[in-house]
Amino acid sequence: MDVLEAIKSRTSAATLAEPGPSTEQLQTILNAGIAAPDHGRLAPWRFVVLNGPDRQILAKAWADMRLRKTPGTSQADADKEGLKVMRAPTIVVVAARVDAPHKVPSIERIVAVGAATQNMFLAAHALGLGAMWKTGEAAYDDKIKIALGLEATDHIVAFLYLGTTVAKGKPRASKLDDYIIRV
Ligand SMILES: Cc1cc2nc3c(=O)[nH]c(=O)nc-3n(C[C@H](O)[C@H](O)[C@H](O)COP(=O)(O)O)c2cc1C
Repeated sequence: MDVLEAIKSRTSAATLAEPGPSTEQLQTILNAGIAAPDHGRLAPWRFVVLNGPDRQILAKAWADMRLRKTPGTSQADADKEGLKVMRAPTIVVVAARVDAPHKVPSIERIVAVGAATQNMFLAAHALGLGAMWKTGEAAYDDKIKIALGLEATDHIVAFLYLGTTVAKGKPRASKLDDYIIRV
C-alpha cells in the first residue's frame, strides 16, 4: 500500500479479533517503529510485546491497580476491567526511556516515540491488520510499568492493540480549514 493511501485510509479498529500479527509481521511493525525520526538518534523507544497468554501480565497488573486506586472495588470487578486487555490478540506496549541526561529535551524524545507508534500503526494497517492506540490510567501507573518490565521513569506512549479488524472505527471527517492559522 502506498504511504499516502495508508495515511488516508487508516482508522482505529472498533473491534479486533484473532489472528494477531504473525512473527514476521510483528518484526515488520517493530522495525517500522525504530525507523521513526529521532533527534540525536538516541533511540528512546522500548517495546514490550504481549502475545496470547502474556497479556495476562497486563490484565493482572491492571486489576491490581484498580484494587489499589479505587477502594471498595471487588476482586471480580477489578479482574473484569483487567481482562479488557484481551480485546486484541497482541498488545505492543510502546514506551519512551528518557531518563539519561542529554541536551535533546525529553519532550523531543517522547515525541519521537509517538512518531514510532504512528509508523507502527501505519505498518500494521499496510499489512492488512487492525490497530487501536490506547493509553488511559494504566499508562501512568508505575506498578504497571514495573510489572511489564519497564522502569517507573519510562513513559508509556501507547498500548498498541493489534489484530484482525472485526468492526471498523468511524471514518475521519476532513476539517483541514479549521486548523490552518496561515497558509
Ligand atoms: C497518545 C494517544 C492516546 C490515546 N489514548 C486513547 C485511549 O486511552 N482511549 C481511546 O479510546 N482512545 C485513545 N486514543 C485515540 C484513539 O486511539 C484514536 O486515534 C482516536 O479515537 C481517533 O480515531 P482514529 O484513529 O480512527 O482516527 C489515543 C490516541 C493517542 C494519539
